[in-house]
Amino acid sequence: MQHDKVLILDFGSQYTQLIGRRVRELNIYSEIHPFNKIPSNINEFKAVILSGSPYSVRGEEALHPDLSLIRGQKPLLAVCYGAQYLAHFSGGEVAPSNTREYGRANLAYIKGDEIFFSKIEEGTQVWMSHSDTIKHLPDKAVLMASTNDVKNAAYRIDGESTYAIQFHPEVYHTKDGKQLLENFLVKIAGLNQDWTPQSFVEETVEALQLKLGKDKVVLGLSGGVDSTVAAVLLNKAIGKNLYCIFVNNGLLRKNEFENVLNQYEGMGLNVKGVDATNRFLEALKGIMDPEEKRKAIGNAFIEVFDDEAHKIEDVDWLAQGTIYPDVIESVSATGGPSATIKSHHNVGGLPDVMKLNIVEPLKALFKDEVRRVGATLGIDPELLGRHPFPGPGLGIRILGDITAEKVRILQEVDAIFINGLKHWGLYDKVWQAGAMLLPVESVGVMGDERTYEKCVALRAVESTDGMTADWVNLPYEFLQRTSNDIINKVKGVNRVVYDISSKPPATIEWE
Ligand code: XMP
Repeated sequence: MQHDKVLILDFGSQYTQLIGRRVRELNIYSEIHPFNKIPSNINEFKAVILSGSPYSVRGEEALHPDLSLIRGQKPLLAVCYGAQYLAHFSGGEVAPSNTREYGRANLAYIKGDEIFFSKIEEGTQVWMSHSDTIKHLPDKAVLMASTNDVKNAAYRIDGESTYAIQFHPEVYHTKDGKQLLENFLVKIAGLNQDWTPQSFVEETVEALQLKLGKDKVVLGLSGGVDSTVAAVLLNKAIGKNLYCIFVNNGLLRKNEFENVLNQYEGMGLNVKGVDATNRFLEALKGIMDPEEKRKAIGNAFIEVFDDEAHKIEDVDWLAQGTIYPDVIESVSATGGPSATIKSHHNVGGLPDVMKLNIVEPLKALFKDEVRRVGATLGIDPELLGRHPFPGPGLGIRILGDITAEKVRILQEVDAIFINGLKHWGLYDKVWQAGAMLLPVESVGVMGDERTYEKCVALRAVESTDGMTADWVNLPYEFLQRTSNDIINKVKGVNRVVYDISSKPPATIEWE
C-alpha cells in the first residue's frame, strides 16, 4: 500500500479505536497495535500516537514499553496516559492528582504552539479523563497549555516533533480534537490525506485480482452490511467466480429471505438462495438453553453451507466479511496487560472441513468505513443503513424452545414494529430494534372472552458498537399505536411491553 500510515500504540483505553477512526476520517490510514508489540516494520509508519489507558504509570502492572525507537525518531503525539508515560519515560514525574480531572475543561495557552494549535482558539473545550497528573515535565519540555485544574495539560519536547496532551482529542466533547489531530498529522508530520473509500475500492479490487486470479471463491451472504459489501467488492474483482450462498435458516425477519435474495440478484451477484428452514427447525426441536440453541443453529449452518459449497467444483477460497474491530489485538482492561485477540460471534464458525484459504477484503476497515465503501460501490443506502441483526436471528429472540408457530408470531410482531419505526421516521435514530417472544402467557379480555395468550417485549437501543447501549425514548404515541396494531393483528398475542433496561447490566438480546 502506498498510503502514509499512522501507528497507534494501544495502552488499553476504551477510546483507542476512536483515535483510529478519527485519523481515518482525515483520510489517513491508521493501524492499532498493542503497546508491547511495536511492529517490526515501524519504519513504514510516518507518525505515532500513544493512546490513553485505564492503568497508572505508577502501578505495579504499569505498561512501560521502550520508546527509544520512537521518541525523537518520528513525529509522536502522546495522549492522556501516553502523555504521562512519555513524561515518566523521559525523566519527568507523574503523581496522583488531588483535584477532579474528569469531564469538560478549557485550555489556556501558556506558549501555544502556532502549528500544533493552528485554527484552535484559546479557551477551547477539551475532555479530561484521568486520575494521575504530570507533576514535573521532563528535560527540554516546553509547557504549551493548562486548564484550571491541570497545569501540564499540553507540552512538547524542544527540538523534536514530540507532542503530548493530557486531554482526549478523539472524543466528541473535545471540540477541536479533529483539527488538532489534523494539525499534528498533516502540518507537523506531513502525512498525505489520500486514504479514501474510492482509493480503497480501486486498490482492493486490484489486489484481489492479483491474489485470486481465476480461482473460485465461495461466500456466505447474511443480508447484513459486511457480507454484502465484501460480496460486491469481490464481484467487482472476479465477477462470476464469486459464488455467494444465502441460507434461509427460517429465523430471518418476515419476507427477508425473498426480498434480500431479489436485491442481491438485482445487484448482479452470482447468488444461490437455499431455503433450509425445516433443517434448522428440526435441529432446534425441544432445545431450551440459549447457548445450545446458538450451537445448533451454528452447526446446521455449517452443514448446509458445506453441502452447498461442495456443489461448486474446484473452489479454492472462502471469503468472509471480517472487519477491523474483529481482528485488532486488544490490550485487556482487566486481569493485567495480557494481549488477547477478540473473537467475533461469527468468525471462525465456517466449515473447516473444506480447508479453504480465507480471503477477508474488509479486514482493514471500521464499520463506518464499510458503509462508506458500500456507498462508493453504489449499494442501496437502505441496505447499508440496516440495523444489525444477530446470526442466530429470531432464534435468540424466542425465549425457550422454538417452533414454526412461534417464529410466525414473532415475525409478524417484528414486522409491525420495524415497519412502524420506518413509517414514523424513527428507524435511523435507533441503532438496533427488535421484538422478543416471552415464555409466559397472561390473562386478557377480548370482547367478552377471557384470553390466555403470549406476551412480547419490544426493544430499541442506541449504541455505537453494541458493547454498551441505552434504551431509546420512543414517543408514547408510537408505542401506543404499535401495541394496538400488534394485539389487534397478531393472533396469539394479548400483551406488549417495552424494555427500558440499559446495557450494562442488561444485554441487548434477551438470550
Ligand atoms: P448482546 O445481547 O450481547 O448483543 O448485548 C450485542 C450485539 O451482538 C448481537 N448478538 C449476536 N450476534 N450472534 C451474532 O451474530 C450471536 O449469537 C449474537 N448474540 C448477540 C446483538 O444482536 C447485538 O447487536
